[in-house]
Parts: sequence; C-alpha cells; structure tokens
Amino acid sequence: MRLDKLLANSGYGSRKEVKSIVKAGAVMVDGKPAKDVKAHVDPDAQEVTVYGEPIDYREFIYIMMNKPQGVLSATEDSRQKTVVDLLTPDELRFEPFPAGRLDKDTEGFLLLTNDGQLAHRLLSPKKHVPKTYEVHLKSQISPEDITSLETGVFIEGGYKTKPAQAEIKANDKGHTVIYLTITEGKYHQVKQMANAVGNEVIYLKRLSMGRVSLDPALEPGEYRELTEEELERLNEPQV
Ligand code: URA
Repeated sequence: MRLDKLLANSGYGSRKEVKSIVKAGAVMVDGKPAKDVKAHVDPDAQEVTVYGEPIDYREFIYIMMNKPQGVLSATEDSRQKTVVDLLTPDELRFEPFPAGRLDKDTEGFLLLTNDGQLAHRLLSPKKHVPKTYEVHLKSQISPEDITSLETGVFIEGGYKTKPAQAEIKANDKGHTVIYLTITEGKYHQVKQMANAVGNEVIYLKRLSMGRVSLDPALEPGEYRELTEEELERLNEPQV
C-alpha cells in the first residue's frame, strides 16, 4: 500500500496533509526516514513510525449502528441525511458504507464497514443469513397469518418468500408486535409480507443479523465498533 494512504488511513490527516509530515522527516520505515509518499510499504512486514511512535494501522472497520428513523441507508445524498453523515472523521477515514439497506423509516441494527467481502457474504441470498425484526402491526394477527408468514407469502412480482420464523410478542387491540426472522432481503420485504396477510407495518426495527444482536445500550443514532467476538460470529458460516 502507498505510504500516504497508509498514513491517512491510520489517522494522520488527508493524503495532502501526510505529505508534509513525511517531508518534515517525521516518518520512518524500518528505521530509515521515508522520503517518498508514493513508496509502497507493507504494514504487516515493515515498521512505520511517526515522530517515533509506531502507527496503529488496520485495514477494516466494523460499526454496529442503531439506525434512527428519518435517515437514509446510503453513503451520500444531495438532499437527505445519510447514516454515514452520523459518523466522525475517525471512522470516515476508513470509508465505511452500509452493508445492506434499512428503509428510511426503519430503525435498528445496521452494519457499516469497508470490508466488501463480509458485506457481500451477509447480503448474498445464497448465504441465508437470518435477520430478525421487531414488527409493530396496525391490526391484530391470527395464528393462520403467522403460519402463512412462516411458510411463505406472495409479494411483488409473484415472488413467494422463503420459509421464515414468526412469533407473537403482543397481540392486543392496538398493540400487535411480532418478531419476524427472514433470510432474504427483497425490497420492503417485511412490509410487503405484512401486507400480504392483510396487515400493515407501523414501526419496524431490526434486532439482529446472523448471531449478532443490536446492543440494547445503543440509542437510535448511536453506534460502536463490533467486538472481536461479534465479528467472529458474523464471519461464521450460517446454519
Ligand atoms: N423490510 C422492510 O420492509 N423494510 C426494511 O427496512 C427492512 C426489511
């Protein structure tokens, strides 16, 4: 990797800014002053120091965000706020992007990462990664509707949804909440599934992806990095 990219990714400023610290002779590679910001260095095999301090380099970032309502799952938008707008320069230097989408009015677990391979694995329909949602419905739900949601319902384009798991949490008049676990991610899938059984989603929150649950300490709009253990669990093949 180029030295300027390595330094920028390690938090020493923009590529332009790191040029000046290299010029000032503050950067050493394997004990020798670096001269050329375009030179290639291998952070795993070579020691890079800035003002004598070894740099703390890592390639990837994995952020668990409790996505708030009203914010787009995108990296940029000319008019509307995106989840990336909620991050600070400390995280932005890794150029994270949302791994998948939640609707603007959906809350809950959104992974932001720059690890394209992990994002691909989590989103690939072939990998069957389960995603669990807390779904608040407008009307009460019958056991028959729960069975239909589980066995598959027809949504847009005549597509039949794959087997899912549905569980009633509350089913009083005016307060119907289910947990729905699906392994695919068709457009507005949960809302479409609710519509298919004559119901309507009034609030939606993603609670988990794979075997990793949203940290209940995160308020909407808050985020933290995944722990190593959570990352391992996300990387495990799904059963
Ligand atoms: N299904 C939906 O309908 N919306 C989401 O945001 C996620 C799943």
